[in-house]
Amino acid sequence: MIAETAQYSDPSKVQDIPGKVYLSELMGALSYALDLTEGLPPGHCLRACWIGTQIAIELCLDDEALSDTFFTILLKDAGCSSNAARIYELYDNDDLSVKADFYTVNNQSLVQVTKFVWSHLAPHAPIREKLSRLVHLAVNGNELQDEVVSARCQRGAAIAKRMGFNDRVAEAINGLNEHWNGNGRPNRLSGSVIPLQSRIALLAQVTEIFYSAGGPAQALKEVYQRSGTWFDPRLVTALSRAAGKPGFWSTLKSTNLEKTVMSLEPASHAMEVDDQQIDIIAEAFAEVIDSKSPFTSGHSDRVAIFADAIAAELGFSPARRRWLRRIALLHDIGKLGVSNAILDKPGKLTDEEWTSIRRHPVYSRSILERISIFASLAPVAGAHHERLDGRGYPDGISADQISIETRVITTADVFDALTADRPYRKAMSLEQAMEILEKDRGTAIDGDCLDALKRAIENSGGALLNSDH
Ligand SMILES: [Fe+2]
Ligand SMILES: [Fe+2]
Repeated sequence: MIAETAQYSDPSKVQDIPGKVYLSELMGALSYALDLTEGLPPGHCLRACWIGTQIAIELCLDDEALSDTFFTILLKDAGCSSNAARIYELYDNDDLSVKADFYTVNNQSLVQVTKFVWSHLAPHAPIREKLSRLVHLAVNGNELQDEVVSARCQRGAAIAKRMGFNDRVAEAINGLNEHWNGNGRPNRLSGSVIPLQSRIALLAQVTEIFYSAGGPAQALKEVYQRSGTWFDPRLVTALSRAAGKPGFWSTLKSTNLEKTVMSLEPASHAMEVDDQQIDIIAEAFAEVIDSKSPFTSGHSDRVAIFADAIAAELGFSPARRRWLRRIALLHDIGKLGVSNAILDKPGKLTDEEWTSIRRHPVYSRSILERISIFASLAPVAGAHHERLDGRGYPDGISADQISIETRVITTADVFDALTADRPYRKAMSLEQAMEILEKDRGTAIDGDCLDALKRAIENSGGALLNSDH
């Protein structure tokens, strides 16, 4: 039996929240998680934000429009996790590389699209299956692309609204994939009917992707080629002017990029966030995380409910419970960087796939470390798969290094994993789940946390389990 010497954190620390928290800082840091989901290089959203705001400045937009541009770009990929499972299903391939590579394809070139589809379709399947998938995509391509784009745009807009952004930002996220010539998706909007912020965001996105892949000349070449088809020519001219100014390209490589981009938020529209808004943003982000896979639908929300119930039984203060709830909501944020080909795989995982899974708490930790108000959550989120006996991951730390907060999250996480459907098995009953947790008492699961969970379920008369399992 492992000694259960929980390291109780100083509760005063959990209230150690910096005086002022700005929405821009929070969204800037969370945008790194969205880059992961799209398989794009870290910092893509921030660089696109720099490019887009420079275009907006060239256009002499007022502060309100500049602020809308700023947040539209930072949040443009908020809905991207919602089509990951579908892309994996259609391509039978790693959704992250399919998405990342598709960004460099001009979807108005049949040759480019065909080459892309053939090279990314079911790479390990027999040729007959690959052909049948190709026929399916060729026959239903239009509807399928509309479905995938629409899921992403609508979800992104809904998440922006949930976070408290205005209708203009939500509309602009919804219109991100519309093209100037009316051949975009999903609504085939054209010209100035497309919200201005959508047009700027798309131009900034493509510029950044080709800049990251091949440098400034490559970026401008691609943009000029798509002017009048994908892009509003007036915006391309504005970009061209901005790109000729000193510092435009070098800022993209700067280690100070995040600070520079944050300073572009118009002071008159800088939004401070309070505790309640931080909770709402964590809840909205939990939705982004859980949308990644059908098997994790509602997981973060339920872990938050179970963790809070355990914390209440253990006598945590309200401030500490609030802090813990945020960790529970965001503990799996690193899963956004794991391919659905692994997350949704019905069979046994290979060693390589396991290595990828084991990376998700590390990603969680590094994303949360970027955000001052979430930095204290980072070590707990990073340790939620550790075990008291030292056989967990990613660091293999043992009981004396595992805090009580981590133990609460781990207990809630494992309980939800057991009682929800998985790709490789159906959900377990409460009795079966408890039997397994009991076997792990003292080796993987903290006994006090397990007892607290049992009491909480009993005291709630089962209501605690009335979630969408
Ligand atoms: Fe996890
Ligand atoms: Fe989890």
